[in-house]
Amino acid sequence: MAQINPSILSADFARLADEAEAVRGSDWLHVDVMDNHFVPNLTLGIPVVESLARATDIPLDCHLMIEDPDRWAPQYVEAGAGSITFHVEAAAAPVRLAREIRAKGARASMALKPGTPIEPYEDLLPELDMLLIMTVEPGFGGQAFLDIMLPKIRRTRELIAKHDLELWLQVDGGVSAATIERCAEAGADVFVAGSAVYGAEDRAQAVRNLRELADK
Ligand code: DX5
Ligand code: ZN
Repeated sequence: MAQINPSILSADFARLADEAEAVRGSDWLHVDVMDNHFVPNLTLGIPVVESLARATDIPLDCHLMIEDPDRWAPQYVEAGAGSITFHVEAAAAPVRLAREIRAKGARASMALKPGTPIEPYEDLLPELDMLLIMTVEPGFGGQAFLDIMLPKIRRTRELIAKHDLELWLQVDGGVSAATIERCAEAGADVFVAGSAVYGAEDRAQAVRNLRELADK
């Protein structure tokens, strides 16, 4: 079954506990950490993740859009995140970092920006629990889905099958009722949705709708 991870980037940051509660029934809560260096935007850091982990039962899927994830990612596990995604473009030693995240008890995930190909990382896939293919340039919610990423999703799904891996394939950026079926058809099974969930009147219903479309 498809997993839907609402992104709190589109939520009200002054009411994060309530906003998490509003998407009860979601698989994970997607938490976008931005440092104004790796991406041109600034969001939240370790203290907010710590508080959020205490405030909600939904496990936290932390997407680190930051420089030097080798230094910071392990601290997000300690803060209470259940899954940590670092960007390969920023990581000095992705294999060592993935192993450290797993050793600390979280799921290890690696993200690729739209311009980063999957092929150089084929041999690294067994070190990961999830791979994130960005379907917009990271940094902001509410951007238009990049259709040109669909072939990369398809090729990644083929690599996962070729190596017989239990790797989740996540997409993030512009995922909505209008685009989620194409992502699922291409082979994604974990879907981040910010504006499509938090822009809806009934957030829980929006999550159910997306899941239904992805499972079609
Ligand atoms: C963008 C973030 C996304 C963002 C997606 O850089 O990584 O998680 O919240 O927002 P939507 O779903 O509105 O494109
Ligand atoms: Zn994200």
